[in-house]
Amino acid sequence: MTAVDARPQGQVESGLLFPAGFRWGTATAAYQIEGAAAEDGRTPSIWDVFSRTPGKVRNGDTGDIAADHYHRMREDVALMRELGVSDYRFSVSWSRVQPTGRGPAVRKGLDFYRRLTDELREAGIRPVATLYHWDLPQELEAAGGWPHRETAERFAEYAGLVAGALGDRVATWTTLNEPWCAAFLGYGSGVHAPGRTEPAAALRAAHHFNLGHGLAVRALRAALPGAAEVSLTLNLHAIRPLSGAEADRDAARRIDALGNRVFLDPVFHGRLPKDLVADTAGLTDWSFVRDGDLAVASEPIDSLGINYYSPTVVGAGTSESPSPWPGAEDRVRFVPAPGPRTAMDWPVDADGLYELLTRLRDELPEVPLVITENGAAYDDYADPSGAVHDPERVAYLHAHLAAVHRALVDGVDVRGYFLWSLLDNFEWAYGYGKRFGIVHVDFATQRRTPKDSARWYAEVVARGGLAG
Ligand code: NOJ
Repeated sequence: MTAVDARPQGQVESGLLFPAGFRWGTATAAYQIEGAAAEDGRTPSIWDVFSRTPGKVRNGDTGDIAADHYHRMREDVALMRELGVSDYRFSVSWSRVQPTGRGPAVRKGLDFYRRLTDELREAGIRPVATLYHWDLPQELEAAGGWPHRETAERFAEYAGLVAGALGDRVATWTTLNEPWCAAFLGYGSGVHAPGRTEPAAALRAAHHFNLGHGLAVRALRAALPGAAEVSLTLNLHAIRPLSGAEADRDAARRIDALGNRVFLDPVFHGRLPKDLVADTAGLTDWSFVRDGDLAVASEPIDSLGINYYSPTVVGAGTSESPSPWPGAEDRVRFVPAPGPRTAMDWPVDADGLYELLTRLRDELPEVPLVITENGAAYDDYADPSGAVHDPERVAYLHAHLAAVHRALVDGVDVRGYFLWSLLDNFEWAYGYGKRFGIVHVDFATQRRTPKDSARWYAEVVARGGLAG
């Protein structure tokens, strides 16, 4: 990564300033904003199929049109230019650039990302590309999906192909976004695409995500020798045991193994957590992990991306089935954390972010961190004058940026912050009902209206930190 002085510039009377060179960004993902689901050779991904399956997504919403970003990309980049951000994190739709998940790329699909990255660079905004944000080409799911080893190999081929096509414009790459959700919500609880409820398959998927990540890192380095900054984004869980009692602490350990160390250990230490293997012995013997796989998974990377929204409080007990926590259903109960909530019913608790960052400082001191997502959904609406007032989002963002600053002061090497999200968008199983954007989208007209939080964020970016 570009070297930055990781120490904050100081805590001045009037506010909290971040280091020079700190990356201020916004984030989106292809299926959530692009639309144009059947244009220019794009074929269905698992999310097209899942969202068309009755009962899977609220209100029957699909990503067919979404925020129509495919056709409004220039307008959206202009919005970012107004915000003054230094970076933009977007994802590449696999089924747009390699529709069957194998073989040659489709030129028109790649051209969209060429136009996007050109436009960004003209606006002085650094493109940060995520290769996989959950939209697996349906053909690869039909062939077995992520529980199937070949998907990891296909992913690496696709990574090399995209790097070859965009490597002259994109220097910062993320292999996977939140493989925990893709594996455990997709194949465990089934609330995400492809909607399978097979606990053992979820564990296989998690391993193949680790393998696919490592293979993709190698493919990126081969396509862009010496040039690429390569990363992985995890939704690490900030876990708190309900009490100091042994059973509650054991519940927290289990969720840490299934939610965090299932990725952290293979990727940073080239090993599987022993307790994870023991805890899941009733479901699998992990024999799908072949010799050499963990060495591939631990291919060195340049930074770790963290998506954080709220903490996870657990105690001994039981949880719902089908569960995204294979093997923990009869051991662990999830306890709602106290305090105010967002429209997702997620607790607002910025301390969780600080706890996570300082833990990573202690456990992975050499790894630079980037907050690749943080933000909140609220029930925003345009008032009669057309303004969108979202003071709760501003308060949420302020508290979380203050937590990041506190972590920096305490020696955590955080290099950037990407606000989720630039635009209101398709919030997966919740459809369009949950609005995370700092820019409001009227989905009937596709009119964009910056919310008060957009103006607030522009000031933060211009100032390089928070006002007092
Ligand atoms: C994480 C995911 O990466 C993103 O796609 C999603 O919209 C946000 N969290 C909010 O749930």
